[in-house]
Amino acid sequence: MTTIQEVYRRLHPRSAKLHQEAVKTFPSGVTHDIRHLTPFPLYVDHALGSRKWDVDGNEIVDYVMGHGALFLGHAYPDITRAVQEQAAKGTHYGASHELELEWGGLVKKLIPSAEAVLFTSSGTEATLMAIRLARSYTGRDKLLKFDDHFHGWHDSVVGTRYGEPETPQSPGVPEATLSNTISVPQNDIAQVESRLAEGDVAVVILEPTGAHFGGLPLRDGFLTELRDVTARHNTVLIFDEVVTGFRVAPGGAQARYGVTPDLTTMAKILAGGLPGGAVAGKTDVMSLIEFRDDADWNRRKRVLHPGTFNANPLSAAAGVTMLSLVATGEFHTRAEAVTKQLVSGMNQALTSRDVEGCVYGLASYFHVSLGKECPRPQESIEWPARNGKAPPRTFPKAALALKQGMLNHGVDLMGYTAGLVSSVHTDEDVDRTLKAFEATLDEMLAEDLL
Ligand SMILES: Cc1ncc(COP(=O)(O)O)c(C=O)c1O
Repeated sequence: MTTIQEVYRRLHPRSAKLHQEAVKTFPSGVTHDIRHLTPFPLYVDHALGSRKWDVDGNEIVDYVMGHGALFLGHAYPDITRAVQEQAAKGTHYGASHELELEWGGLVKKLIPSAEAVLFTSSGTEATLMAIRLARSYTGRDKLLKFDDHFHGWHDSVVGTRYGEPETPQSPGVPEATLSNTISVPQNDIAQVESRLAEGDVAVVILEPTGAHFGGLPLRDGFLTELRDVTARHNTVLIFDEVVTGFRVAPGGAQARYGVTPDLTTMAKILAGGLPGGAVAGKTDVMSLIEFRDDADWNRRKRVLHPGTFNANPLSAAAGVTMLSLVATGEFHTRAEAVTKQLVSGMNQALTSRDVEGCVYGLASYFHVSLGKECPRPQESIEWPARNGKAPPRTFPKAALALKQGMLNHGVDLMGYTAGLVSSVHTDEDVDRTLKAFEATLDEMLAEDLL
């Protein structure tokens, strides 16, 4: 029997060769942790719409979608045109420009918490800035985050490993910084309340649909309770909408659930597939970066806001085009209809093979949990246990086989077990994806991986 991994090697010889070259330059040969894949990652040559083509000529239905940035698919014509036109007019003026005004205006129009906006170059920079604003605003140091929630890679949000409160997620973070980051389990409002009652927590930050963009969904009511507790303790509440912003609704999770944070961090869809991030929120917090007619304020109290590529014209051109298009919600309708078909088809494939596991999601993302008892969504695509029970995790060996097996059949999942769907995925993509999933499940069963 040929294994999934043997087929992967056979179908991707040129990727293997490029990887051998890459390890001479990049540690492990990759430029982002999530692109690390055993035995080697895929090298992509070009992409269009919902598809990308690797260097071995394989055509792939893509659910990575630029790590979630490409809500309109690859090389969407309006965005390509806007970026080309802007590139010809200059990519950096080192000065203010009209497009940034339009871009910021669209953020204000769409995101309920956005009374004021500032731009950064990435989601990591956005959370860094939002946390600094919150600390300055409250005069406190502590940050409370939730286990497994990801907010980029700067020191303040590294935190500790899930279930291992003594183990930092990365070495290299000063003890003093780590000691200011408190990590508690999501959905446990009593722990949040008792920690906030100590009066030293500046800020609570979370992914507002749950850890790993909803891979571990929040229980019903948690966001409202969190809003209430943080307000009572004068702690700044940040919704990190880097993935959910403009995706789970044009106004993000806060619009979908009707809960307004003090600050919101954004990136990905915000910048239309180019680099870019933003913080938006209440004027009294955001105004900490304003210059005043007060030398002492400007020199000692004002929060700095530099950044060479903040609101650069190319990202602004792509971002304005993206946000103008997604504002109406029409593109969401299509992406969500596709996601629904995918979730229901994949669950049917599990049922018909009597394989334990489930596929669930929200709006236009989905998550696959394989190999353990897991309730399947019935009416909506959402994880049915809305009481805070977490979906089981797929064993790493099964997750790797799923990733490779799907690639062998022409489908690229986000990470190993998730998907970010765009508004340009077609019925044919759904068909191909479901066939790939069924074939991969059969191959995994044959290898005794499920
Ligand atoms: C919720 C969340 N916050 C922050 C970030 C960091 O964004 P960036 O990769 O643009 O620095 C990410 C990246 O995936 C994210 O998912």
